[in-house]
Amino acid sequence: MARQFFVGGNYKMNGTTESITSIIDTLNKAELPANVEVVIAPPAPYLALAVAQNKQKTVEVSAQNVYTKTSGAFTGEISPDQVKDLGATWTLTGHSERRTIFKESDEFIAEKTKFALERGLSVIFCIGETLEERKSGITLEVCARQLDALSKIVSDWSHVVVAYEPVWAIGTGLAATSDDAQDTHKQIRAHLAKTIGEKQASEVRILYGGSANGKNAPDFKDKADVDGFLVGGASLKPLEFIDIVKSRF
Ligand code: G3P
Repeated sequence: MARQFFVGGNYKMNGTTESITSIIDTLNKAELPANVEVVIAPPAPYLALAVAQNKQKTVEVSAQNVYTKTSGAFTGEISPDQVKDLGATWTLTGHSERRTIFKESDEFIAEKTKFALERGLSVIFCIGETLEERKSGITLEVCARQLDALSKIVSDWSHVVVAYEPVWAIGTGLAATSDDAQDTHKQIRAHLAKTIGEKQASEVRILYGGSANGKNAPDFKDKADVDGFLVGGASLKPLEFIDIVKSRF
């Protein structure tokens, strides 16, 4: 099953009008491969700017988080409808920083994801274990628990992309080896086959995230279950991000 290569850029809480405009201008000037799906996720205040600046047909814009309501008295929150209203078509959910810093539960993240899908967004659904959990040998149990919270309430995963981000590799410069990533991705896909079915499990893209960069991205080229990357720091360096987009070829 050939799955379309996918590269997401998570800007996190970084950037200004000037810097994000500059990043997107650089992306606009690049000759990006026509068969690579690219999604950039600036901070929410810059979603409209990113949509307006983007000229690449293969690039779409994403929020980094959404709430479970279309509108109402939820100070500080953002609704999927508002994300769509701005012309963005994706959102991240369940990023490890939402789980660890903001204490979002598996169930709350699953509820957000379900709602975002219902409101017409595609979702990059983030999972991953902490260093302690990896050392305890429970990586797959953790990923399965996070995935199951979603598969219990969502059966159509055609607009879901999974991002496996070992927490211990995020922002550390210490990416998982491509072999380790492939091994975990294969187990994740096998688990999904049991919960969302073989067909959907074979079709869903599973991205690697955690210190992916222009130098290590080519190492993942022949890893059958690594369908792309969710990039943090390197997404703020547009020429390196472009290298990652081109790294499969
Ligand atoms: O969502 C992507 C992010 O968590 C990875 O960050 O800086 O390690 O690429 P980074």
